[in-house]
Amino acid sequence: MSEPTVPHTTNNAGIPVESDTDSLTAGPVGPILLHDHYLIEKMAQFNRERVPERVVHAKGAGAYGHFQVTEDVSRFTKADLFQPGKRTEMLARFSTVAGEQGSPDTWRDPRGFALKFYTEQGNYDLVGNNTPVFFVRDTIKFQDFIRSQKRRPDNGLRDNDMQWDFWTLSPESAHQVTWLMGDRGIPKTYRHMNGYGSHTYSWVNAAGERFWVKYHFKTDQGIDFLTQAEADRLAGEDPDCHRRDLYESIEGGNPPSWTLYVQIMPFDEAWNYRFNPFDLTKVWPHGDYPLHEVGRMTLDRNPEDFFVHIEQAAFEPANLVPGIGVSPDKMLLGRIFSYPDTHRYRIGPNYAQLPPNRPHVPVHSYAKDGPMRFDAARTARPYAPNSYGGPTAQPELWGAPLGWDVQGAMIRQTHPLHDEDDDWGQAGTMVRQVLDDAQRDRLVSNVSGHLLGGVSAPVLERALQYWRNIDKDLGDRIAAKVNGN
Ligand code: NDP
Ligand code: HEM
Repeated sequence: MSEPTVPHTTNNAGIPVESDTDSLTAGPVGPILLHDHYLIEKMAQFNRERVPERVVHAKGAGAYGHFQVTEDVSRFTKADLFQPGKRTEMLARFSTVAGEQGSPDTWRDPRGFALKFYTEQGNYDLVGNNTPVFFVRDTIKFQDFIRSQKRRPDNGLRDNDMQWDFWTLSPESAHQVTWLMGDRGIPKTYRHMNGYGSHTYSWVNAAGERFWVKYHFKTDQGIDFLTQAEADRLAGEDPDCHRRDLYESIEGGNPPSWTLYVQIMPFDEAWNYRFNPFDLTKVWPHGDYPLHEVGRMTLDRNPEDFFVHIEQAAFEPANLVPGIGVSPDKMLLGRIFSYPDTHRYRIGPNYAQLPPNRPHVPVHSYAKDGPMRFDAARTARPYAPNSYGGPTAQPELWGAPLGWDVQGAMIRQTHPLHDEDDDWGQAGTMVRQVLDDAQRDRLVSNVSGHLLGGVSAPVLERALQYWRNIDKDLGDRIAAKVNGN
């Protein structure tokens, strides 16, 4: 008997189905019969196809690839994935932040830059953005910030007035808003943007010496952007253009890559540095802390199934491996809790077993049972300690806890101010020293266009003052445009 050219349809139990097209009825005009269980299975499965979309970063695209170390940074970290010559498999997902699953890729928004490295010490996740800073500096404001970017409860609409209301009442947003309203607020594609770890992390080397570190992934494709007009046009003509571009580049044998650099701050310099180095609204100027090359990430494999590998991908800043730790950044510390919590809700408590999230090393945890558990427990006895050969923690794999000294009463207070800390300074530096005339012109045009999109008094007056605080001349130019002069 010759092999069929296409496989026969089966139900989920592998049983051949009788028909792809006709339900079982009692006679030609009779009712549908309840025991047409394949029909019931189809309807029931369809009704459960969606998992909740990510509460932020819902729309995205991703691909697999690898990270190749090119320089020796072993004097700063003992992390396996950054040792000389090391190559590590990885997954990346890029995203917009505020829009929903179906929103256009070209809306002005920061872009997520989430990376998962399948290291020999377990998964290391670096969940960053395409910007080095953020809108707020305390986790307790994140939910409010996001709500101001999403939809109004009364009419379900996004609202520029709401956005500027929050931003102008939160002046620490100035640096990130300046960045967002500039050219890099709408990258040409996901391939044409940098990625940043944004937070300060800690590294420790094999000798136990600690450093503070910031990650910069610079695009090898070159930075490129869309003007507001180009972005508006593409939002209508090809709303999935960035997802399409990433997929087609890889399918077409043109894998994008990024070179990783780090800024390194010796541990003791943090406390008296001119900016608070743990404040997510600030960068470390390169003149103070230059970039050290580490290696190159290349994305060369599209997932075989978007839902399985990209929708179900669960990135979490809590996934840190020996040699890498957190810092006193209050945003980072809040994120450590938030992501595993949302994954348990969004894709279930056993999300770590799913293909994109499975480590490439054996898992010997004491986790067991729960919905959709399919990995058998690898421990003969489900508790520790036990006398039946169960896994035991080996603290020497981590070394001394990677932290810093703390003392003092419990307080609620903004990060301690360092000499040059304020909300406007670094944003002003960007406007005056980084942007050229053409970029400043587009910044004025982008901001005034946004303010004219439904922002009214008193928020509008506060917004004009906000820009004058960043740069007096820029603020005056925006005011003139908004006022029609
Ligand atoms: P540098 O001149 O050493 O660096 C300026 C940085 O700005 C470069 O990383 C450059 O990225 C980036 N840049 C250039 N054009 C834009 C733009 N339109 N939007 C956003 N970023 C842009 O200066 P400093 O390190 O002293 O920083 C000065 C200011 O630059 C900071 O206040 C900050 O606003 C901004 N910046 C600083 C970064 C840092 O980590 N130090 C990172 C990004 C921005 P590229 O090399 O890719 O062109
Ligand atoms: C996604 C929370 C700040 C980058 C998410 C998600 C949550 C969240 C709940 C959805 C995750 C999912 O459903 O899979 C928070 C909180 C923050 C914070 C509480 C502040 C305290 C940041 C910052 C960055 C960032 C500062 C970047 C530097 C991302 C990225 C994703 C994401 C890239 C998408 C991950 C993916 O592709 O699956 N965040 N976030 N977030 N966040 Fe944050």
